[in-house]
This record gives sequence, C-alpha cells and structure tokens, in this order.
Amino acid sequence: MKYLGLLLLVVVLFSSSVSAQVIANTKHGFQNASWNAGGQICQPCHTPHAAKLSSNALWNHQASPNNYSTWESEEVGEVSKNCLDCHDGQIALAAFGGTTDASIPNGSHMNGGTVGLSNLGVDLTNDHPINFAWNTTTTVSGQTVNKPNVFEKNGTKYVGGTSGDLRLTKHADNDYRVDCTTCHTPHGKAGVGFLLRKANTASVLCQDCHNK
Ligand code: HEC
Ligand code: HEC
Ligand code: HEC
Ligand code: HEC
Repeated sequence: MKYLGLLLLVVVLFSSSVSAQVIANTKHGFQNASWNAGGQICQPCHTPHAAKLSSNALWNHQASPNNYSTWESEEVGEVSKNCLDCHDGQIALAAFGGTTDASIPNGSHMNGGTVGLSNLGVDLTNDHPINFAWNTTTTVSGQTVNKPNVFEKNGTKYVGGTSGDLRLTKHADNDYRVDCTTCHTPHGKAGVGFLLRKANTASVLCQDCHNK
C-alpha cells in the first residue's frame, strides 16, 4: 500500500499539465536569463499572490499599452495581450513582480532588436490574423476556411485535427476567438518546436483550418 501511494504521487506529479521539465528547455525557460536575477521560471509571467497587473492567469508582467494595428477593429484580447506584453517590443522583459525595471528592454533582447520573428512590434497586420471569432460558417472575415468541428472539453473549445489540437479562447463578449494560444502554448510541448500546440510538419497545423 505504501508503495502504491508513492506511485500515485509520482504519477500525479508527472502528469501535471505544466511541466517545468518541458518549459525549462524552451525559449521560455528563463531560469538562466541575465534579466531574471531570481532564476525562477514562472515568475516573469505568473505570481501565486497579489497578481494585479491583469485580470487573467495570475499575471505578473507589466502590461503593454493596447495600441496595435490589427486585422480586426476591436482591441486585442487578454490572452494574446499576455504574449504581447513581451513580444511587441515595448516593455522591458525585466518589468515583472511589480517592478518597472526598464534596464533590459524587450525588443533589443529578441532577435538582436530587429522587428520581425520574436519581436512582432505593434503593427500586427503583417502577422497571422488573431482576434477573429470562430463561428459556424466556412467564411471567416472573407477568408474561406476548412471549418473543422469544434470540440468542447471541460468548458474550453478546440478546433483542428480529429480531436481538436488547437484551442479557441472565450472573450469578454462570449465569442470564441483565435489568439496566439490557438497555435502556441506558452509552456511548450515535449518534442514540438516553436512552442506550438502541435508540430507543423508539412504544414498540417495550417491545413487544420485552411483547405488548400
Ligand atoms: C512566458 C510566459 C509564461 C511562463 C514563463 C509560464 N507561463 Fe503559465 N501561462 C502563461 C500564459 C500567457 C497563460 C494563459 C494562457 C492560456 O490560457 O493558455 C498561462 C497559463 C497558465 C496556467 C493556467 C492554464 C493552463 O495552461 O494550465 C497555469 C496553471 C500555468 N500557466 C502555470 C505555469 C507554471 C507552473 C509555470 C512555470 C513552471 C508557467 N506557467 C510559466 C504564460 C507563461
Ligand atoms: C516574459 C516575457 C514573455 C512573455 C510574456 C511571452 N514570451 Fe515568448 N519569448 C520570450 C523571449 C525572451 C523569447 C526568446 C526570444 C529570442 O530568443 O529572440 C521568447 C520566444 C518565443 C517563441 C519562439 C520559440 C522558439 O522555439 O523559437 C515563441 C513561439 C513565443 N515566445 C511565443 C509566445 C506566446 C504565444 C506567448 C503568450 C502565450 C509568449 N511567447 C509570451 C518572452 C516572452
Ligand atoms: C495560426 C497559427 C499561429 C498564430 C495565431 C500565431 N502564431 Fe506564432 N507561429 C506560428 C508558427 C507555425 C510558427 C513557426 C514559424 C516557422 O515555422 O517558421 C510561429 C512562430 C512564432 C514565433 C517565433 C518566430 C521565430 O522565427 O523566432 C513567435 C515569437 C511567435 N510565433 C509568436 C506569436 C505571437 C505573440 C502570436 C500572437 C500575437 C502568434 N505567434 C500567433 C503560428 C501561429
Ligand atoms: C485556427 C485556424 C487557423 C489556423 C491554424 C491557420 N489559419 Fe490562416 N487564417 C484563418 C482565418 C479564419 C483567416 C481569416 C481571418 C481574417 O481575415 O481575419 C486566416 C487568414 C490567413 C491568411 C490570409 C491573410 C490575408 O491576407 O487576408 C493566410 C495567408 C493564412 N491565414 C495562412 C496561414 C498559414 C500559413 C497557417 C499555418 C502557419 C495558418 N494560416 C493557420 C484561420 C487559421
């Protein structure tokens, strides 16, 4: 019995959906980053207590102004905003935990400061559209898409593949929308590059939505 208990504990620990083992080996493994003196992985993004910088995900990073040029007229939703707090190049990476430390600027620490790749900048019209609602038609904002079934699991909606590999986010207006986290997971997935939810081998991720 004693060993069964231990075995169960081990199983619980290793089946946790956020595994530091996985994230530590990705570009979001900030444990050795020069701008992260505490050396914690989760802290630049989350805090267990007193999160007040944003209302979701116990957010611990200083918020970026929501001043983007986008495909959709409405403001960028909360979850994509989380990503853009670092990836728009406007806010210092080191500005977390309530400090506004601007000594480690964001853009200049991504791809050598060049806008593009990891530093998306504030003009999102040269990036894949986000923020649009995923509804029941096969035309979304004028783009004909291969509308896969929408899968519902534990109150969250997914699209793509045969079981829903990509995730939609519920926005304040109750629409389910495409965000950065539809294609990406901030915590990484073992064996999958670019922090994607699934490998894009032979563009299968793109073809989950686009019937080309
Ligand atoms: C680079 C930023 C970043 C880092 C580092 C990070 N997270 Fe997250 N995490 C996010 C974002 C953004 C969300 C909300 C996005 C979403 O809904 O998927 C999130 C959501 C979560 C959630 C709730 C939803 C889920 O996916 O289960 C948990 C729990 C979580 N993170 C735990 C952790 C832990 C533990 C660590 C450290 C080992 C960590 N995160 C590191 C950005 C990060
Ligand atoms: C605390 C700041 C921070 C936040 C918040 C953050 N990132 Fe990052 N991200 C980084 C840094 C730093 C890098 C490494 C950039 C580089 O090397 O040029 C990175 C790299 C990446 C990469 C490249 C991975 C690779 O293997 O090349 C992707 C994809 C990415 N982030 C997506 C996201 C998404 C999606 C979110 C939101 C869910 C997010 N990030 C939130 C700081 C952040
Ligand atoms: C429709 C799917 C999709 C959406 C939505 C999406 N991405 Fe990506 N992203 C990808 C794919 C696929 C790659 C890998 C690119 C490659 O293979 O060259 C990528 C690459 C990246 C990279 C790494 C760039 C590099 O070459 O170093 C970053 C950073 C990134 N995405 C951030 C974001 C952020 C932030 C958002 C939201 C504003 C976002 N992505 C939305 C599919 C997406
Ligand atoms: C979650 C579903 C989804 C995924 C995954 C996805 N797309 Fe899209 N894509 C869309 C929708 C919907 C639109 C139209 C949205 C809009 O115009 O606001 C679109 C728009 C586009 C456009 C047209 C932009 C324009 O000029 O109007 C291109 C090109 C594109 N996607 C390429 C890709 C590529 C390449 C990938 C894989 C890296 C990909 N998409 C993955 C749903 C998706």
